Amino acid sequence: IGPTISPVRDSTSELAVSAKRGSFTVRDRKMKKERAKQAQDRAGVKGSRVGKENVLGVDDEGEGEGEGKDSATKAEPLTADRYTQIQLQRKSLPAFTVKQELIRTIRENQVTIVIGETGSGKTTQLAQFLYEEGLGFNKGNGNKKIIGCTQPRRMAAMSVAKRVSEEMNCEIGQEVGFSIRFEDRTDPNKTSIKYMTDGILLREILADPLLSTYSCIIMDEAHERTLSTDILLGLFRQLIKKRRDLKVIVTSATMNADKFTRFFGDAPQFTIPGRTFPVDIMYSKSSNSDHVEAAVKQILTVHLQSSTDSGDILVFMTGQDDIETTCELLQEKLDLLDNPPPLDILPIYSTLPQDLQKKIFNKSDSKRKVVVATNIAETSLTVDGIKYVIDTGLIKLKVYNPKLGMDTLQVVPVSLANANQRSGRAGRTGPGITYRLYTENATEDSRMYKQPIPEIQRTNLSNIMLLLKSLGVQDINSFPFLDSPPKDLLNCSLYDLWSINALDNFGELTPLGKQMIEFPIEPTLAKLIVQSLEFKCSEEIVTIVSMLTVPNVFYRSKERKRESDMAREKFIINESDHLTLLNIYNQWETNLKKVKNNFSSINSWCTKNFLQLKSLLRAKDIKNQLLLIMKKNRMPITRSNDDTIIRKCLCSSFYQQSAKLTKVNVNGQLEFINLRHNYMKMYLHPTSSLILNSSLSTPYVIFHELVLTSKEYMNFVTTVDPLWLLEFGYKFFDISDVKTKTKIRNEVDFKYIDKESVKQSLESDLEM
Ligand code: CDP
Ligand code: MG
Repeated sequence: IGPTISPVRDSTSELAVSAKRGSFTVRDRKMKKERAKQAQDRAGVKGSRVGKENVLGVDDEGEGEGEGKDSATKAEPLTADRYTQIQLQRKSLPAFTVKQELIRTIRENQVTIVIGETGSGKTTQLAQFLYEEGLGFNKGNGNKKIIGCTQPRRMAAMSVAKRVSEEMNCEIGQEVGFSIRFEDRTDPNKTSIKYMTDGILLREILADPLLSTYSCIIMDEAHERTLSTDILLGLFRQLIKKRRDLKVIVTSATMNADKFTRFFGDAPQFTIPGRTFPVDIMYSKSSNSDHVEAAVKQILTVHLQSSTDSGDILVFMTGQDDIETTCELLQEKLDLLDNPPPLDILPIYSTLPQDLQKKIFNKSDSKRKVVVATNIAETSLTVDGIKYVIDTGLIKLKVYNPKLGMDTLQVVPVSLANANQRSGRAGRTGPGITYRLYTENATEDSRMYKQPIPEIQRTNLSNIMLLLKSLGVQDINSFPFLDSPPKDLLNCSLYDLWSINALDNFGELTPLGKQMIEFPIEPTLAKLIVQSLEFKCSEEIVTIVSMLTVPNVFYRSKERKRESDMAREKFIINESDHLTLLNIYNQWETNLKKVKNNFSSINSWCTKNFLQLKSLLRAKDIKNQLLLIMKKNRMPITRSNDDTIIRKCLCSSFYQQSAKLTKVNVNGQLEFINLRHNYMKMYLHPTSSLILNSSLSTPYVIFHELVLTSKEYMNFVTTVDPLWLLEFGYKFFDISDVKTKTKIRNEVDFKYIDKESVKQSLESDLEM
């Protein structure tokens, strides 16, 4: 994909430099922007969320919340047949054949690096081996300890725990459990094998720095180099000296393995021998402008040309949006054909409900399947029977944008190591073919990175800094990083923490910072909760935070646009999306009580109001957990009926994300300017409550996050009194001149805003 895919060198390596200069300067910024936009358009990224992603709680692939919790946790009775079948399958895994040697190596060494092809049984078998061989017990007194296994992704943690509980024939949450943010399915008395996200283990270290309940920790998929994994590795290097009895096992695909070995002072490598078959690699002859179309074309070609075999196809896309588009387009094309050979089209991405996810594992000899996946299928999921891989060569990554002062999701070319890993997926069960939808040229001339850039070198580190500070790491520069973050990225993150008063002028945690640590959510939201204690509106703020943490609560039907909009309008609180969220939650909860928790009644209430019941239930769950944390820390939970107080409280935590209305442009759109640097134009998201307002009481607003599409849209906006901005954001705004205070209030003349025309122009813009 010539110009759109090849020049990758400039994507993130220059972050450090640009951060230092205080602006985002890339060699050819304009070109890059254009490219990013093209990539986004192609990817059909309708609205990447750009909030400061939570790291402590970890999110998968930056794709937001939500998973098929219900189905993941339902226990299915295992028939004897199925159990025998599963045991047979276990025995056929490469890991099984080397079990004894593997266990010996682990027994003899404190740290072991385990390398193995994807699908060799690392994730599902290792923990079971350790358990079966008694490594889950204290040597001295025989006390039971936990064997922990971390995963970079929530979805993997859940589905693997489910699988292993089946293999061990027990109910999930008993001997085998999992723990992900806001959902702990373990039993302190029973659980021996615990799968969790790396972010969860990082938080556990806060409470128990020696991890004294664990006997073994398996750092799975360490080669993915997520931020939390990298920090954990650094912490383990110190911890293993204090806990000589703790076993650390780092599993990795071949990439990065030597690095881990060196990091742990020449720790032994154990390679699980794999069976791999040759894979032919085909490149595109020319570049394609649309990766979805190119992929669909390639799928059809493979499917129709090789109709004699039933080898399955695996396609790598960037995210939910382009996966869905691909599946739809493919189905459309198939429908146009006369009696085509049957094809199962199966999407897979992290937020897909569990029961749909499971479908990719279904086997059928007569019917070919095509699995359209995110990067999740690169290493953390193994689908058997793949013979053809179609690789777009693209990936969606979280990249810190110093210009915006926040993380953004960007579609960028993958590294060579990733591309090779993807190709390898075609040769697991027999010889295979990979079709790379980019030219061979693109992989040469060092235009693609050899290795992916670890997250620690490309994302905002505020969360992690806060955590390290509270772990007593005084000098961040002396922390044993596997790869050090660029100095300027560190400085930026420290600055961010200072600017929200979590750190003082000496870089020490403030009392506020210490309280923030208690909450497994992004720093600004944690601060918001702490602030709400002072404003005596903690009950309301916790609701708002919970609602901001779940995926969209509104259901916007394409066919019933007007109706769904009208339903939404009924909930709107003027001048504040945050208060609107609060209103929705409260009304929903009132109704929930009224119908006495009757599922079908509340479900129909939600449908009538175009609300997503699943999101609301999850918000309720999160709210309860946040309230628990507050109670544990003796933080008072108080109610307030005063909207002004709540808005002021919001301002006290979000002053660094504020904007001012500057004009109404020719399309009737409200144009704002970002007050942080006074140059970036921003707009209200079309779903904002403020859009329907014909006049705002003040031109100043705070916003929760930015969504990048064709324009910069602010998501979740609330108007604020400029004097509040001065009061709380004194680090940013000048308070010396009293006269300006009155001036600020009267500065902008409000024009009448024509609701309908605004909405129409926005809709055509966003194509919602
Ligand atoms: O971690 P690694 O890639 O080495 O392999 P694994 O995830 O332990 O998978 C071993 C085998 O278990 C594969 O053949 C998978 O297809 C199977 N598996 C499964 O059937 N269902 C799951 N939820 C997970 C794994
Ligand atoms: Mg694995």
